[in-house]
Amino acid sequence: MKGVILAGGLGTRLNPLTKVTNKHLLPVYDRPMIHYPVRTLVEAGIRDLLLVTGGNNAGDFLRLLGNGSEFGLKHLNYTYQAGEGGIADALKLAEHFADGEKVCVFLGDNLVERSIRREVEAFQRQPSGARILLKEVPDPERFGVAEVEGDRVRRIEEKPAHPRSRLAVVGIYFYDAKVFEILRPLEPSARGELEITDVNNAYLRAGVLTYGVLEGWWTDAGTFPSLLRANTLVAAARDRGESFP
Ligand code: DAU
Repeated sequence: MKGVILAGGLGTRLNPLTKVTNKHLLPVYDRPMIHYPVRTLVEAGIRDLLLVTGGNNAGDFLRLLGNGSEFGLKHLNYTYQAGEGGIADALKLAEHFADGEKVCVFLGDNLVERSIRREVEAFQRQPSGARILLKEVPDPERFGVAEVEGDRVRRIEEKPAHPRSRLAVVGIYFYDAKVFEILRPLEPSARGELEITDVNNAYLRAGVLTYGVLEGWWTDAGTFPSLLRANTLVAAARDRGESFP
């Protein structure tokens, strides 16, 4: 399985912090934000990675990460997203890299406390389709929200005003190679972006979407409160002597 880290977009919700740099280069406690997804994927055994970035500071990712030797990698792949067409638009750029293999897509502003290795293995065993990770949160209206029934996902809504559950869709997604066919006909949403929730709903309609519930804490870091929360959570982990995440 290959890994795709999405670190495009303009991070406007963090202005003026993102005026002269990319959101994913901002610090989260003792590391730049982009280190966390790289470390989590490598720890889970995914070592063939593509980083999608964009905006005016793409070169800084190369200076920061190089060929990934700091993470025990020999090589890192990079590509550039022009504009801010959405998460699903950024994923389109990974088709050539994926080359028919399954992918784990990781949003560059998401941090998790624990290893995702078990989820990677669960998707490796899944013959085809997609797998999403869910986490109960107090503020589901900020996220994609899933309604589940037993082991089946019934519905996913993107940032609903009236969420039907507290189960947020985490920014870590597993897809088979069909994802690139699903991406082609997608139309922009009301916010002008190609939505990853539309991709997940396409798999749901096809009856091949599974889910897991994430253990440990999870946070995004794309707003001032969530960036602060990410810093606090990592600081507490370091206080407990944990080197991961
Ligand atoms: O954090 C999880 C949530 O992420 C999910 O629950 C939502 O369903 C999903 O839509 C997404 O919501 P956000 O609106 O918070 O995503 P955001 O626009 O902040 O983008 C998240 C990351 O995706 C960002 O850090 C970089 C990447 N991205 C985003 C856009 C809009 C790109 O690479 N290119 C883009 O054009």
